[in-house]
Amino acid sequence: MSSDVDNPFFARVWTAMSGHETDEMRTLRSENLAGLRGRVLEVGAGTGTNFAHYPPSVTEVVAVEPERRLAAHARDAAARAPVPVTVTTESVEQFSPGAPFDAVVCSLVLCSVDDLNGVLRQLFSMLRPGGELRYLEHIAGTGARARLQRFADATVWPRMLGNCHTHRHTEAAITAAGFRVETARREWVFPAWVPLPVAELALGRAVRP
Ligand SMILES: C[S@@+](CC[C@H](N)C(=O)[O-])C[C@H]1O[C@@H](n2cnc3c(N)ncnc32)[C@H](O)[C@@H]1O
Repeated sequence: MSSDVDNPFFARVWTAMSGHETDEMRTLRSENLAGLRGRVLEVGAGTGTNFAHYPPSVTEVVAVEPERRLAAHARDAAARAPVPVTVTTESVEQFSPGAPFDAVVCSLVLCSVDDLNGVLRQLFSMLRPGGELRYLEHIAGTGARARLQRFADATVWPRMLGNCHTHRHTEAAITAAGFRVETARREWVFPAWVPLPVAELALGRAVRP
């Protein structure tokens, strides 16, 4: 099934941005995937920037990417990946897994889905018991940054940037969906004083009990 996500402006922006990531960001991507094993679902793979970072203990990655221009880049990245990767243009909401996954990977995507709580419940149900969610996500800040995020989310930011919402309490939503958070930390990808709504990331590992 093909999705109805059609976002030419964001596809161009994200293709350019994801091709120029910092070493720091690449390190965070590797950390997010370290130690994964077995069958993995990657949600909203974009241009496939994560694929190069999967460890050899991963036997298969199924990547969903509903924006067809980004999915085309992701397929190119899949062909160069160190592990087998297939890319489908379904949205995560449309996707139905054949069998439970050992892990689900979300990076910079939970800010963009329409129904965060619903998607997290769906991801929980797609994992085997003991399976894990790895996440590297923008999260809601506090104080002046929270105000900036709420302003951005109410104006053009989501429309320009593929439905990205910067003021999301993603970690709380992960716990509310039933996951047990095993490791979690915060990282700044720009100095804390830079007035960017997406400068702070949450990196973590949560398990389906
Ligand atoms: C900011 S990009 C991040 C891409 C990639 N995860 C990464 O780390 O580079 C967000 C991606 O999520 C995808 N996306 C948005 N809504 C989605 C949905 N409902 N299901 C699956 N992917 C979605 C977008 O098409 C886009 O490629």
